[in-house]
Amino acid sequence: MSQLTFLPTKPKPFVKWAGGKRQLVDILLSNVPPSFNRYFEPFVGGGALLFELQPQKAVISDINEELINAYKVIKDNVEELINSLKKHKNTKEYYYAIRAINPKTLTPVERASRFIYLNKTCFNGLYRENSKGQFNVPFGRYKNPKICDEENLRAVSEFLNKIEITILNCDYKITCEMAKSGDFVYLDPPYYPISKTASFTKYNKNGFSEEDQIELSEIFKELDRKGCYVMLSNSNTEFIKKLYANYRIQEIKANRFINCKANRRGKSNIEVLITNF
Ligand SMILES: C[S@@+](CC[C@H](N)C(=O)[O-])C[C@H]1O[C@@H](n2cnc3c(N)ncnc32)[C@H](O)[C@@H]1O
Repeated sequence: MSQLTFLPTKPKPFVKWAGGKRQLVDILLSNVPPSFNRYFEPFVGGGALLFELQPQKAVISDINEELINAYKVIKDNVEELINSLKKHKNTKEYYYAIRAINPKTLTPVERASRFIYLNKTCFNGLYRENSKGQFNVPFGRYKNPKICDEENLRAVSEFLNKIEITILNCDYKITCEMAKSGDFVYLDPPYYPISKTASFTKYNKNGFSEEDQIELSEIFKELDRKGCYVMLSNSNTEFIKKLYANYRIQEIKANRFINCKANRRGKSNIEVLITNF
């Protein structure tokens, strides 16, 4: 594998994301296989490792339709997006008016603009939906949020256009089916909760259950059998360690800034990093 370098500004995640890996990216990088074919990130979220690693060929996906639309718009239409983002206002009334719009009635650019605006101005950068699939996070009351980070949006756009990338809005299982021998798959799912209240796992109205974790461990094993390099992040729990008992499990320290419980925010947790190589 060779990585891309020399982009004038290094791209970084364009959204704050629960479970975002920016704090852990150095540890993740030091665990990446020395060479591989394509890079797969089926639960891409903010894409911290994608932007740090800068692979030449990648397949990314997420179940969140708004997020994936934003990746595509940044790739194909960044200037229009920047113009639209500049028009937003950081007031409570304006926020709730934008939040109330059904994103499906908007153009892809307006939809990405709404999504990024809400992410930058909502409470704690959370993405949470009610049972009807409507975004329901309250206004964040930030003094001066950077709604439009032009430099980073252009850097992300340039990066996404420089590499060979497939961007999908689908379940992770569909993406994993596309991986072949020699590909590197990084799985960063919603974590198995440490306790019933401590963790934030509800990224969309469907959530990610214990059965989903078991199914994911089967997919990990399937990728291993296919000859992929597989790396997975999850919580440091007996349940998870048991599921991956036949693989290499490292305990790593993480600082979590986005947590739905105020007393857990900014605290460090031990997480696990599981690899088959
Ligand atoms: C822990 S976050 C990933 C964080 C990411 N590594 C980062 O640096 O921001 C998990 C992501 O999985 C997505 N997700 C949840 N269930 C999914 C599924 N069944 N298939 C694909 N993505 C899913 C969520 O929308 C969320 O973006």
